[in-house]
Amino acid sequence: MKTTKIQEGKDLEKKSSFSGSLGFVLTAAGSAVGVGNIWRFPYLAAKDGGGLFILLYLVLVLTFGFTLLTTDIAIGRKTGKHVLTVYGSISERWNFLGKLTFIVPVIIMTYYTVIGGWVSRYMAAYMVSGTKTVAQDGYFISFITSKIAPVVFMLVFLAITTLIVYAGVEKGIERFSKYVMPTLLVLIIGVAMFSLTLTYKDSNGVVRTGMQGLKISLLPDLREMTFGKFLRILLDAMSQIFFSLSVSMGIMITYGSYVRKDTNLEKSIWQIGFFDTFVAMIASIMVIPAVFVFLGMEGMSSGPSLMFVSLPKVFEAMGEVGRFIGFAFFLMVTFATLTSCISILETLVGNFIQVLYVSRENLCLIIAVVSAVAATVICAGYNILYFEISLPNGQIGQLLDVMDYVSNSFLLPLISFLTCIFIGWIVKPDLIHDEMQAEGQTFKSKKLYSFIIKFIAPPIMAILFFQSTGIFKF
Ligand code: PHE
Repeated sequence: MKTTKIQEGKDLEKKSSFSGSLGFVLTAAGSAVGVGNIWRFPYLAAKDGGGLFILLYLVLVLTFGFTLLTTDIAIGRKTGKHVLTVYGSISERWNFLGKLTFIVPVIIMTYYTVIGGWVSRYMAAYMVSGTKTVAQDGYFISFITSKIAPVVFMLVFLAITTLIVYAGVEKGIERFSKYVMPTLLVLIIGVAMFSLTLTYKDSNGVVRTGMQGLKISLLPDLREMTFGKFLRILLDAMSQIFFSLSVSMGIMITYGSYVRKDTNLEKSIWQIGFFDTFVAMIASIMVIPAVFVFLGMEGMSSGPSLMFVSLPKVFEAMGEVGRFIGFAFFLMVTFATLTSCISILETLVGNFIQVLYVSRENLCLIIAVVSAVAATVICAGYNILYFEISLPNGQIGQLLDVMDYVSNSFLLPLISFLTCIFIGWIVKPDLIHDEMQAEGQTFKSKKLYSFIIKFIAPPIMAILFFQSTGIFKF
């Protein structure tokens, strides 16, 4: 009985694959490009003095980012397995790592649709109500603390995600990404260019321009730099890389397992990394100058409230055109969030197929219903289930922040650390090298890869883990 079930599970799994390397690159980039690029990257860059953060990020993405992404994708394609069984299929004793990694997308799924609901709400508000309403003080708080609206928008967002995943990897996810990702690029470049042309005279008669804002966002601010501050910026950049590239959470392993053997992995991985970094850079060029022009230097330190509170004020200050720009901006964020959410749902579906032996379509619906219930609880974290808790990294959070903390600050560095030890020291990087050269291609960055996974990544991951758990403080 068991063998036939396993066979059935295998048959169910087999069907999914990407049509070719373009489809794979755009779909993986769709997962990577999300609120992390358009919201988190610019606010970290603004908070951490612009250029230095950006510079460190670039160095890190070319080294660590590349290494982590390569590990996930290559191991996925090599084994053809999803995350739950991927490590166990190589070494029985490391089976636990797959289970640990799988917890991350499960947790993220509970709140990512809630954020998806927020951004689509803003998009709709620019269409229906205009800039004044959205820019009102307290608009964001009153929306997220209301009982019905966030749930309704979350459900719509989840329903769209489910429909696309339901249609399958090639016919749903890949096809959607092939349209949406280029559209997103055009939108973001257009709005960024517009942002650079802005000028504004504030009530004190000071004139600020978009180009000045660009200079501030790109030049490193080294005043009052201390070692501790430098390290903090480095760790901010590091943790942004995990989140932004969707690595160490099983997603890229799942997508990797759908890649054809004749696809040149190294080239595709650089393209995915480039796409993701390019969007984050352009988002900074779009967001930081606009905030600087209308809100001055104070506006730049707004942190997480940047997207939902500061930017609507910027769009209002733009006058007539602000409504259109605001709509285009949130349309872009909704697209980016949708393709990321799709990758999480697909990871859950792909993995549960292996354990539950239910058809892809049914599983998709079952997971959607469970996610809807979980996300409703997360929404209630801002009203009936409201609490405030201090997290080990020093922040005060509500339910959504707790989930975000556990998955991104606690689990990700831990999983990355263990993965690097496993690949770098237990099975050895040759396993990855072979896969990268599976059809005779050369793995040009082979030495860089081995060096980082063995010697550089593990200590840095350990520091990051200790810092985010509050064991070390800088
Ligand atoms: N990579 C996405 C971003 O930058 C975030 C994400 C996290 C996507 C987890 C999928 C899963 O926003």
